[in-house]
Amino acid sequence: MKTRCRFLILLLLTLVTFGLSFAARGQARVTKERFGDTLDGKGVDIYTLTNSHGVDARIINYGGIVTSLKVPDRNGKLDDVVLGFDNLDAYLKGRTYLGAIIGRYGNRIAKGRFTLNGVEYKLAVNNGENHLHGGIKGFDKVVWNARVLKVPNGAALELTYLSKDGEEGYPGNLSVKVIYTLTNANELKVDYSATTDKDTVVNLTQHSYFNLAGQGNGDILNHRLFINAARFTPTDAGSIPTGELRRVRGTPFDFTRPTAIGARINQDYDQLKLGKGYDHNFVLNGRMGTLRQAARVYEPTTGRMMEVWTTEPGMQFYTGNFLDGTLTGKDGKVYQQRYGFCLETQHYPDSPNKPSFPTAVLRKGTRYHTTTTFRFSTSKSEPPADRGPQAGSPLGVVDAGG
Ligand code: BGC
Repeated sequence: MKTRCRFLILLLLTLVTFGLSFAARGQARVTKERFGDTLDGKGVDIYTLTNSHGVDARIINYGGIVTSLKVPDRNGKLDDVVLGFDNLDAYLKGRTYLGAIIGRYGNRIAKGRFTLNGVEYKLAVNNGENHLHGGIKGFDKVVWNARVLKVPNGAALELTYLSKDGEEGYPGNLSVKVIYTLTNANELKVDYSATTDKDTVVNLTQHSYFNLAGQGNGDILNHRLFINAARFTPTDAGSIPTGELRRVRGTPFDFTRPTAIGARINQDYDQLKLGKGYDHNFVLNGRMGTLRQAARVYEPTTGRMMEVWTTEPGMQFYTGNFLDGTLTGKDGKVYQQRYGFCLETQHYPDSPNKPSFPTAVLRKGTRYHTTTTFRFSTSKSEPPADRGPQAGSPLGVVDAGG
C-alpha cells in the first residue's frame, strides 16, 4: 500500500514538473534588449515577441520596424520571412522603409499638397515632386514609446507617438498608437489608432517586405498570390492615381485566381511599365471597416502561406522593384530586385486630392482605428482561394464582374 502511495506521489510530481516546464516553454512572452542609439542619442530597444509555438517577431521602437519574423515551413523549420538589417545604423541610413510603420500618410500625396476646410497644406516633398510615406521624417524614422502588454492569446507590444501640429506640414497634434500582437494562432496583428486636436488626414500602414522562402533566398516571382480585388487604381508616371478604378479582369492585375507573381510581371502593359513591375493600390472587395481577406500568398517550395486580413479599403502591392543589390541585409544577404514583396493595407494613394476615393480625413474628436492581420500557416499543396462571403463590390459599387 505504502509503495503504491509513494509511486503515485512520484508519478504526480513527475507530471507536475513536466507540465510546468512544458507550460514555461509554451507560454507567449516578450523580451527586451538594447539595439542602439539614434544620432541624437535616443536609445532604441529591440523586443522579441514569442508565441506559444516558438514563432517570434522582433520589433524595434525606431520606426516600429519589424526586423525579423520567424515562421515554420511545412516541416516545422523556422525561417525569417521579412527583409531587414542586423543593426540600427543600417536602418538610420535606409530609404526603403523595410518593415516600418508608415505615417502620417502611407504612399503618395500629389505635389505634397491638399486642401482641408478651405486651407491649403503644403507637405514635405521627398519623391520627385510628390510626398511619399509621410515625408522626410515620417513615422518610420522616429523613436516611439514602447510598452509590453499582457494579452491572453499571445505576446503584444504597444507603440505610441505624438506627431506635433505642423510635422512634415500636416495639421493637428496627432496622437498615434500601434499595437503589434503575435498571437498563439501564428498571426501578426497590427492595430492602429489615432486621435487629433485639429482636422487632419491619416493613413497608417506597415511596410514589411516578405519572402516566404526565407529572407535573401532569391526573388519572390514564384510565390503564388491571390488578391481579393476586382479593381485597382492605375497611376500616372509619378505613381499618382489617375482617379480611375480599373477592372482587373483581362489585365496582368487580375489576381482573383491564385497566380505566380512573376507570371505576367514583364508583360507589355502600360501600368507595369510605369511601376517597373507591380506598385499599385488594389481596391479591396467587401465593406471597408469590416475585417475581410485582402490577399493570400503561397510559397510552393516551403509550403508557407500568408493571409492578409484587413479593415482597410485598399492595399498597395509592391514587388520590390527598386531594390537593386546595393542593400546588404541580415546574415549578409544581398537584396536584389524583387527579393521581397509588400502588401500595404491602406487608403488609396492621394485620397486627400481625390474626392471620389474613400476619405482619409480624421476629424477632431473622432478616432481613427484600423486593423490588419498577417496570418501564417503551411500547406502541402496550394488550397483553392476562399474569396469568402465578403467578396463582392467595393464601397457598394455594383460590379457585374465583366
Ligand atoms: C511605394 C513604392 C516605393 C516603396 C518604397 C511603396 O509603398 O508604392 O513606390 O518605392 O514603397 O519602399
